[in-house]
Amino acid sequence: MKNRFNTYIKEVDSLSPVELIEFFLERHPGKVAFSSSLGAEDQVLTHMLAGIGKPFKLFTLDTGRLFQESYELLEITKQRYQLPFEVFFPEAANVERMVNEKGINLFYESIENRKLCCHIRKIEPLRRALDGMEVWITGLRREQSVTRINSGAVEWDADRSLINVNPLIDWNDEALWKFIKENKVPYNTLHDKGFPSIGCLPCTRAILPGEDIRAGRWWWEQPDNKECGLHVPRNK
Ligand code: ADX
Ligand code: SF4
Repeated sequence: MKNRFNTYIKEVDSLSPVELIEFFLERHPGKVAFSSSLGAEDQVLTHMLAGIGKPFKLFTLDTGRLFQESYELLEITKQRYQLPFEVFFPEAANVERMVNEKGINLFYESIENRKLCCHIRKIEPLRRALDGMEVWITGLRREQSVTRINSGAVEWDADRSLINVNPLIDWNDEALWKFIKENKVPYNTLHDKGFPSIGCLPCTRAILPGEDIRAGRWWWEQPDNKECGLHVPRNK
């Protein structure tokens, strides 16, 4: 797979997001997965993928701590695009052990606890969701955070041995919202209430005018540390 990635990297350079997605759907039929957090970027990608009309695996990770608005959007999105949307949950025994040992809101107490919670509720289910897949599409954008400025549109994920595709990596906020409005893409109502980036409820707050778009995610931690392990910061 790494060899194929090396050959692709030259071919995909100037492709648009839709062309990039088509490129991988054609070369890896049945082996392309898209993880949607139901955030604005992911809604755009769902719209693009649905428009292409080729099969792919669409899934979300339900950590058990999401906003009700996100669950509502999940149902609206399923209705609108008529796509099979798989939901992956954390292993119940792991959640029980963690909560009983460390408390239900352990994440506020230390970075170690927060990473443990993210690992059990997100990373482990993600591993299962990506099992057997060759290409993983995400809605990462460079502009989102200091930990993402070195990310590319197509990357080799050495940990998971698959090709990671980020079609919107270069998009700015303006392009994102223009697309959403023009195409009437359904989006999370929290975006209109000061939440540009939405994760789990206890770890997401609204931002104030002038604050960074991810300032509301794990707001008690430092910006250079704010990744849950889903995405590994690149230090090129
Ligand atoms: S996070 O790592 O800080 O939580 P973020 O919310 O920016 O990530 O989302 C970046 C990308 O990670 C999304 O576009 C999506 O592909 C993936 N992702 C994040 N959270 C989830 C989730 N709960 N379910 C599925 N995919 C997710
Ligand atoms: Fe747990 Fe918060 Fe991570 Fe969600 S974002 S998995 S609640 S630590």
